[in-house]
Amino acid sequence: MRITIFGTGYVGLVTGACLAHSGNHVVCVDIDEDKIARLTRGEIPIYEPGLEQIVHENVASGRLRFTTDAADAVAHGTLQFIAVGTPPDEDGSADLKYVLKVAQTIGEHMNDYRLVITKSTVPVGTSDKVRAQLASAVAARGVEVEFDVASNPEFLKEGAAIDDFMKPDRVVVGVDNERAAEHLRALYAPFNRQHDRTIVMDIRSAELTKYAANVMLATKISLMNELSQVADRVDADIEQVRRAIGADHRIGYHFIYPGCGFGGSCFPKDVRALGQTAAELGYEAEIINSVERVNNRQKSVLFDKLRYHFGGDLTGKTIALWGLAFKPNTDDMREAPACTLMESLWAAGARVRAYDPEAMGETRRIYGERDDLTLCTDGETAATGADALVLVTEWHIFRTPDFDALAGLMNTPVLVDGRNIYKPSYVAQAGFAYYGIGRSAASGARTTLG
Ligand SMILES: NC(=O)c1ccc[n+]([C@@H]2O[C@H](COP(=O)([O-])OP(=O)(O)OC[C@H]3O[C@@H](n4cnc5c(N)ncnc54)[C@H](O)[C@@H]3O)[C@@H](O)[C@H]2O)c1
Repeated sequence: MRITIFGTGYVGLVTGACLAHSGNHVVCVDIDEDKIARLTRGEIPIYEPGLEQIVHENVASGRLRFTTDAADAVAHGTLQFIAVGTPPDEDGSADLKYVLKVAQTIGEHMNDYRLVITKSTVPVGTSDKVRAQLASAVAARGVEVEFDVASNPEFLKEGAAIDDFMKPDRVVVGVDNERAAEHLRALYAPFNRQHDRTIVMDIRSAELTKYAANVMLATKISLMNELSQVADRVDADIEQVRRAIGADHRIGYHFIYPGCGFGGSCFPKDVRALGQTAAELGYEAEIINSVERVNNRQKSVLFDKLRYHFGGDLTGKTIALWGLAFKPNTDDMREAPACTLMESLWAAGARVRAYDPEAMGETRRIYGERDDLTLCTDGETAATGADALVLVTEWHIFRTPDFDALAGLMNTPVLVDGRNIYKPSYVAQAGFAYYGIGRSAASGARTTLG
């Protein structure tokens, strides 16, 4: 099939590469000339495991190419995917200007049938707006061209995006006619070998499904984080609680890890946007709104523990951070807890020494050169001379440090474990003051907040 993808970010580039890999002819188009120039040179602008190889293979085979030429891109694909960003507007609702701009562009250039598929995460009713934009752009040219619209939300996880796309749990397809359904069934047939994972539904339900999935997952995290706050205060160990409640198959072990709050480009903005959609319709979505409030509060937990340890004064302290990306296996810093922590530390007069395996460039891009930020070549260098070490992102490389050696490198051996990946008693043996998230004094932690 001939496919065009508008937007070569995390979603568009992965979608384009994977669809080319399954035999389609794909054109990826972006307005970011620098990004397209880099891709054309074979450089991958984001870090995503396995992506580089797939892109190179499919460019070499002639099934994948990149352009900034919208007319060329619209002429290429019978299927036109919209995979551009939908950042939060001032009131938290999704800003649709990029999505509707693409609809306008497709309408300005299309000369025969096109199926326009929204893959970006968009509020319920957006496909109607896309349809109206296409219709008005076509009408303005005084021509008649047939088209369908569809919703095909994306569920990939950054860090495992290729695998998620190639072996999806489900493919959600929202359509309002059989022609559109057939195109999308045919497109996704190679991903349905084992059993049919495609769930065809009406467009509005497909749009809502994406938000429902993200809000459900975000709710599990926020609830667990709230329970960890209770555990801290009653001197219980949330890790023992987690193991026991996860054994109940109605609850399960996924997404019940307490931590320092969720970040990334999806959960925070999607939770906010769904709450805003409900509010606009006169319904106060109480659970959804509190998921965001709990998460914002949780993002200060690392700073609170440091402030507690240092008696409320962090002036002149040097704090080492392990991990900056919002989660492992990505360089994405959007809404990352590390940003909240660094900004709080700087405001309190502390200095930061940090290391992340992939997100250092992104950190430099966001914060630039500053005296109170030192980006280090590895975790040990970051910890050297530090007054405390904070594990923010649970990259594999941080899992089993030599705590004795680490204690020797630091000015004072203080460890705040933002993901509960270390065993408190083991860390304490090396002389560390250990602070986990919701872990008890009985297991070697000193967690009671002032
Ligand atoms: N990142 C994820 O893990 C993920 C997962 C599922 C869904 N989503 C959703 O997918 C959408 C895209 O997310 P992302 O993380 O890939 O975004 P991104 O910001 O990484 O990339 C968006 C790209 O679109 C380009 N763009 C903007 N306007 C354009 C236009 N008119 N024509 C062509 N290109 C244009 C931008 O230059 C940018 O390269 C969002 O709605 C997001 O919520 C993201």
